[in-house]
Amino acid sequence: MFEIYVYENYEEVSQKAFEVMKKIVSEKPNAVLGLATGSSPVGLYKKMVEDHQKNGTSYADIVSYNLDEYIGLPVTHSQSYSTFMHENLFDAIDIKKDNIHLPSGVSSNLEKHAAAYEEELEMNPQDIQVLGVGSNGHIGFNEPGSSFDSVTHVVTLKHQTRLDNARFFATLEEVPTHAVTMGIQDIMRAKTILMVATSLKKADAVYGMIKGEITENVPASILQKHPHVIVVLDKAAASEI
Ligand code: F6R
Repeated sequence: MFEIYVYENYEEVSQKAFEVMKKIVSEKPNAVLGLATGSSPVGLYKKMVEDHQKNGTSYADIVSYNLDEYIGLPVTHSQSYSTFMHENLFDAIDIKKDNIHLPSGVSSNLEKHAAAYEEELEMNPQDIQVLGVGSNGHIGFNEPGSSFDSVTHVVTLKHQTRLDNARFFATLEEVPTHAVTMGIQDIMRAKTILMVATSLKKADAVYGMIKGEITENVPASILQKHPHVIVVLDKAAASEI
């Protein structure tokens, strides 16, 4: 079930996303947050930080699980998702280090690590899962063709995804070819999903997610089967629905 909001610009989109997040954190101070990286949630995280600094909203008892991580980038790499999360959110709020969970992209046994991450997720279902959508319809790094039954696993990134993310690297060659991601089943376990999508580049994917056929070729289309998805869009991203 989608609850769809359309706003003029990214600032308004981020404000709405923040209000959704704040309600959950206020009602349940030990909520489990599933978090995403990428451009879409940056404004949301900025508002969470501002609110923490100005109003003292506490994240001390919050537990977080991130969606995904590149394989092969050391955690200290400027483009690792661990670095992204610390720079954009964790270092500026009072979340406890032990409560932060990100899949590892540098484990010596990636499969075993993914299985352990999966086990933890199953025991700690997300109260809210923040998502962005790829221009090809991916959620997390579940690329087109991923099984709707997938759990945390290692994936090969599609060329389109590497092209989309090349903006963060000096060259396309530097964009990792693999990642570890929560599976579709893990995402669907969240009580509430908060999807943020902006710009015309996302319009096709947003259409597929909301109105298209439910197919593994458009991973986001599975969200049509989720009981509570809050979708926050700008006008451009909403232009095809
Ligand atoms: C990020 C993630 C990805 C992004 C998607 C959109 O953790 O899992 O699915 O949400 O690629 O990225 P942006 O927001 O950069 O357009």
